[in-house]
Amino acid sequence: MGRRIAFVPTMGFLHKGHASLIREAARHGDDVVLSIFVNPTQFAPGEDLEAYPRDFDGDRKVAEKAGANVIYFPDVKEMYGKNYQTFVELEKIPAHLCGLSRPVHFRGVATVVTKLFNIVKPHTAVFGQKDYQQLLLIRQMVRDLNFDIEIIGGPIVREPDGLAMSSRNTYLTPAHRRQALCLYQSLQKAGEMVSAGVRVAAEISAAAKAIIKTCPDAQIDYIALCNPETLEIISDIKGQVLMALAVKIGNTRLIDNMLLNTESGT
Ligand code: PAF
Repeated sequence: MGRRIAFVPTMGFLHKGHASLIREAARHGDDVVLSIFVNPTQFAPGEDLEAYPRDFDGDRKVAEKAGANVIYFPDVKEMYGKNYQTFVELEKIPAHLCGLSRPVHFRGVATVVTKLFNIVKPHTAVFGQKDYQQLLLIRQMVRDLNFDIEIIGGPIVREPDGLAMSSRNTYLTPAHRRQALCLYQSLQKAGEMVSAGVRVAAEISAAAKAIIKTCPDAQIDYIALCNPETLEIISDIKGQVLMALAVKIGNTRLIDNMLLNTESGT
């Protein structure tokens, strides 16, 4: 049997969340390939493509320490040559949550991940659960297009105070960094409410909204309680429910999510 390749696709500016994905990949493969590519097709005009943080030397250190032994670092011309015209699009998953305010995003993600899978040819690929909708989309795409690749979801890694790790956290001023905690606080509140027996989704959304509204620079994109498989919005909490949030703090758009469970209370 040949060597197994485990793959972690990223856009770089690696943090502890990426390091945990690399360590997870190392448990599944003999070789761990990390890609770093800030993919232009998943950014709409006016989004943060140019501003997106980049630090190849820092990334190399994090990647090597966590166990990656190959870094694939293509440039835009290599990925999207002259006359490029092929895109991968899913019909249903992008019609929810982030897809509503970022209409080209998931088409860009599905396209670049398809290309990366064809280039790297991994046996396993690891994606973070912070981008829950992205993970769901990749799983669906792998099933639909018969990729022979095992997809693994890595848990959200948080700062000690609960803020989900994200390369975009680097945009936050100290005041915005404090306000950014409202996403995690909302999710925690939701977990407590479900544990206390609340089953009406609108009550949970209202409590989350009240927390976020206390932050002067926060603007809610969505607070959604939805079916964790289809992302359809639900009104009653029964079994497992995904709570997902997107909130702009100043100009920085942050996302976070948590699975709520009526069985265990969270
Ligand atoms: O999650 C990311 O960093 C990106 O969306 C991905 C999967 C590397 C595709 O560009």
